[in-house]
Amino acid sequence: MNTTLGAVTTALSKGSLAAFASGVLASDPEVRRLLDDEVARQRTTIQLIASENFTSEAVMAASASVLTNKYAEGYPGKRYYGGNAVADRVEDLARSRAASLFGAEHANVQPHAGAPANLAAYMALVEPGDTILAMRLDQGGHLTHGSPVSVTGKTYRFVAYGVTPARQDGSGERIDLDLVRDLARRERPQLIVAGTTAYSRIIDPVPFREIADEVGARFMFDAAHPAGLIAAGEHPSPVGVADIVTFTTHKTLRGPRGGAILARADLARAVDAAVFPGLQGGPLEHVIAAKAVAFGEAALPEFKDYAKQVRANAAALAAALSDEGFRIVAGGTDNHLMLVDLRDFDADLTGKTAQDTLDRAGITCNRNQIPDDPRPPFVTSGLRLGTAAETTAGMREPEMATVALLIKRVLRDRENEDALVAIRQEVRELCAAFDPYPGSDPGPLGNPGPGDPGPLGASGPGDLRPGDGLPK
Ligand SMILES: Cc1ncc(COP(=O)(O)O)c(C=O)c1O
Repeated sequence: MNTTLGAVTTALSKGSLAAFASGVLASDPEVRRLLDDEVARQRTTIQLIASENFTSEAVMAASASVLTNKYAEGYPGKRYYGGNAVADRVEDLARSRAASLFGAEHANVQPHAGAPANLAAYMALVEPGDTILAMRLDQGGHLTHGSPVSVTGKTYRFVAYGVTPARQDGSGERIDLDLVRDLARRERPQLIVAGTTAYSRIIDPVPFREIADEVGARFMFDAAHPAGLIAAGEHPSPVGVADIVTFTTHKTLRGPRGGAILARADLARAVDAAVFPGLQGGPLEHVIAAKAVAFGEAALPEFKDYAKQVRANAAALAAALSDEGFRIVAGGTDNHLMLVDLRDFDADLTGKTAQDTLDRAGITCNRNQIPDDPRPPFVTSGLRLGTAAETTAGMREPEMATVALLIKRVLRDRENEDALVAIRQEVRELCAAFDPYPGSDPGPLGNPGPGDPGPLGASGPGDLRPGDGLPK
C-alpha cells in the first residue's frame, strides 16, 4: 500500500474486514465464510477488471450502515414517509458534494446503478420511439446504449456510430466524428450519446455538442468509466457541455456500487421525476451516504495523484504488453483501460480462453470484443484490462511491467499446468506486497487453510495444483 495515497485509499486498520464480518455475521457462519472467501480472493489475485476498484473502509462502513433500514421515497424536504430528517441531510450532502466535485448545477444521487441512471436520463430527455445516436456496442458502447436485449433498445430507435478503421501506426480505432456528423444529419436524432464501456482514448465532448446543436439534438455524456478521471481533472469535463451527464460511482471514482446524474438546472425537475417516481422506488440511503463519502474523498488532493497514477499505470501496462507481442487497440490508452487484441500474439487464442486461463493463474480480467471482431461476444478476440483497482492497492509502473510479463507467460504456457502453478504462486507473492486490505485475515469463523481461492473450477479454497484440469 502506497502511503501517500493511504489516506484516501483502502488501508483498513488491521483485521478490520474480518471484524466487520464477525460483527455483522456472527449469526450466519455460512455467509460469513463466503465473505471471508471473497476478501481472500480480492487480496490474493490481481484485479484488472476495468470497471472495478477497492473502496475505502469509510465507503464500506457507510454502505453497511443503519440507513439501510430507512424508507425515503421522494427527495429531501419532499418525502412520502416520516422520519427522514437525517436521510434528508445525508442525501443533501451527497448531492451538494457531487455537484461541487463536478461543477454541476444539479445532481441526482439516487440511481441504483449506471443502467438506471442512463434510462432515467433518456426518460428526461426524449420520448419512447425517438431516435438516439450512440456508440456501437461491439466497438465500445454499453448495453444501455441501445442493445436490442436492453429496455433502451426496445423503447427508443437507436442508430449507432463506431470507430475509424485500425491503422498500422495506431492512429485508427478512434471515435469516427465524421460518421457521427453524417448520421446526425441524416437521421436527425433527438438525442446524441457519447461515452463508452471499452474505449481507451479521451472523449472530447465539444465536437459532440457542436453536432448536436447543428441538428437540434440533446446531448448526453455517459461518464460511467472516466468519472474519477474527470473529477480529478485528468480528462476534459463534459459538465456544462452536455445537457446531462450520467456516471457510475464504483469504477474510477472508487465509491460504492451505484449511479448518479448531473444536469443543468433547467433539467433538474425532469431528471428527478424520471428517477423517482418514473423508474425507481425508495432510494438506497445507505449507499447514498457511501456516495457522499466517495465524493468527499475524490475532492481531496490525493485523489488527483491517484487518477494521474491510474493513467500512468495504464500507459505502462499497454506499452509493456505491446513489447510482449500483443496489439493494443487504438495504439494505446489515455485512460484507465486498454483493449488487447490477442490475434497478433496467437491467432488461435480467444478472449474466452485467455480470460479463463488468467483466472486460474490468479489474474482477473474480462474478455471483450475488439472493433470488427470476427468472433462472437461470448468468445471474442480481445481482453479488456484496467488499472484503477491495482493502482489503489499501490502498484506502479514497475509492477505493470511485471503484470504484463505474467500475462504473457500465462497465455503462452496455457497448456503447461506446472508453469501455471508456478505463476499462480508469483501472483500471490506480488499481491502480498500490494494488499488492498492488509491484516484482514479471517477471524475464528474464517476458513481454515490459506484462505485464498484456488483456480476457477476447483472444488473449494485451495491453490492451483498440477493436474487440476486446466483448459486446453
Ligand atoms: C458506459 C457505461 N454505462 C453504463 C454502465 C452501467 O453501469 P451498471 O453496471 O452500474 O448498471 C456501464 C457499466 O459498465 C458502462 O460502462
